[in-house]
Amino acid sequence: MRRTLYCGHLRKEHAGQTVVLEGWVNRRRDLGGLIFIDLRDREGLAQVVVSPEASCFAEADRLRSEWVVRVEGKVQLRPADQVNPRLATGAVEVIAERLEVLAEAKTPPFPIDAGWRGEEDQQVSEEVRLKNRVVDLRRKRLHQNLRLRHQVITAIYSFLDGEGFISVETPYLTRSTPEGARDFLVPSRLEPGHFYALPQSPQLFKQMLMVAGYDRYFQIARCFRDEDLRADRQPDFTQLDIEMSFVTQDDIIALNERLAAHILRETKGLELTLPFPRLSYAEAMNRYGSDKPDLRFGLELQEVTEVFKGGEFRAFAAAETVKALVVPSLLSRREIEELEAIAKSKGAAGLAWARYEQAALSGGIARFIPPNLPQMLQLSEGQTLLFVAGPWRKTVECLGAVRLELGKRLGLIEPGYRFLWVVDFPLLEWDEEASRWTYMHHPFTSPNLDDLHLLDTDPGKVRAYAYDFVLNGSEIGGGSIRIHRRELQERMFALLGISAEEAQQKFGFLLEALSYGAPPHGGIAWGLDRFVAHLAGEESIREVIAFPKNKEGKETLTGAPAPVDEVQLAAVGLAIRSKV
Ligand code: AMO
Repeated sequence: MRRTLYCGHLRKEHAGQTVVLEGWVNRRRDLGGLIFIDLRDREGLAQVVVSPEASCFAEADRLRSEWVVRVEGKVQLRPADQVNPRLATGAVEVIAERLEVLAEAKTPPFPIDAGWRGEEDQQVSEEVRLKNRVVDLRRKRLHQNLRLRHQVITAIYSFLDGEGFISVETPYLTRSTPEGARDFLVPSRLEPGHFYALPQSPQLFKQMLMVAGYDRYFQIARCFRDEDLRADRQPDFTQLDIEMSFVTQDDIIALNERLAAHILRETKGLELTLPFPRLSYAEAMNRYGSDKPDLRFGLELQEVTEVFKGGEFRAFAAAETVKALVVPSLLSRREIEELEAIAKSKGAAGLAWARYEQAALSGGIARFIPPNLPQMLQLSEGQTLLFVAGPWRKTVECLGAVRLELGKRLGLIEPGYRFLWVVDFPLLEWDEEASRWTYMHHPFTSPNLDDLHLLDTDPGKVRAYAYDFVLNGSEIGGGSIRIHRRELQERMFALLGISAEEAQQKFGFLLEALSYGAPPHGGIAWGLDRFVAHLAGEESIREVIAFPKNKEGKETLTGAPAPVDEVQLAAVGLAIRSKV
């Protein structure tokens, strides 16, 4: 007996045929003396019926959920009143003639059968799910997510291959590649006291491939970053990494737009409208309070600094920036307090407010609001004004967080995929703690050549040839045009406070490469997990990764990280001094 087809592929056309199915018992029911087995494989469910006359009845009677069985039987159409329209196999059933138990199974720690029947899966805590990931991975939702991920990767390969890209693998045991996180270190046995770093990205290798003349590179690359975890961050995650030579920012953006359109077409059957909108960093921050704005709803921040300048309300009169949100409903005091807590958690001094009712402002700071404001903001009946004042960046970011919360609470978020590019990022930002300039993307990003003259005099004003790719309020990718001249790269290191010796020690190989004639080049990396999570409609990237780490960075299934024995430590020249 060999499998003749997947359970989930059974159709009306198979009626009359003898088939062999193999799979898991999704559910067993006894009805009117008959045994009904929902047999499951990755393609779906098939109904198997065992009658008391069948020689395998006794065997079928032993079956429990999740046992693995092989069944041979004849396909027949179900009686009209038993057709299940929710299942693709719902018009037929298999009348069992032979049945073999291939493996028995313990009762799973939580049921996983409902999703396969088209019903809601039972809610189970993520901790229990990840600890029992093999069982969890049997659920339909995860099967669909991992298959979607595969389809996305297949679409990427076919598109980029068609565009002349070649996939090259770069090392995982390497030297530090700075992307702003801590490195994961791997001790060397052959050179005790020396360490490899796992790559935070293939950035430097892809640049060297450009210097080596490969022209168009891509890689589905694992990256490793030791940083605090969130729903959209994993210590090891996957990038679609791309680099191109002899291109401008516009070329890279256009290629990636076509790639996104291709993926959405192949996996979702959707036609995206190109080009995607582009916003400068300054505009994104000013209008949405975020460098990754969610364009699925409006509710833009309003600029009102000037209105309050020199006025009675001291906190606003002297503020660098005052921004307002016009909320399309009357918010209660409690709602405002909850929103204020969000603004404060991001560093705002407070959230000021006023309501617009019966053609007048009332409550909160209404009496301090200049009379021309309602007209300026074109207020209409039943709206609430919310304000934040303070330094520019903090102000817009705090109100941006309030905007996002309101988008969710008021149900303003339209369904769909809203892509955009954020461009013209500043090259540098001031690091208060270290009291020096630091890079906003990475130290290899090219300054906008129009701003080069500001590099020494006003570095904060220099824009970068850097761009972020944003989908529905999430940064799904980022890239830049790189510095391809050694002198400029050295100047950049100096500006970042990296001494010539340190530059030579850490990045000497890159500087060396750049001195062998580097083409102008640039690229991008997509966070593949994030992108797939969006397409799958999942909040967390853990839902599109087969074996993710939990929120504490642990992989509870295998129990990593784990202690190692002293012999193994000694072999790499290490000893544990203290356990914290
Ligand atoms: P960047 O650091 O912006 O750029 O990373 C690119 C994209 O990778 C995703 N990402 C993550 N996803 C999951 N977990 C993480 N911990 C994580 N960190 C980042 C994000 C991000 O946009 N070398 C540059 C790219 C380039 O310049 O070409 C780089 O790595 O979606």
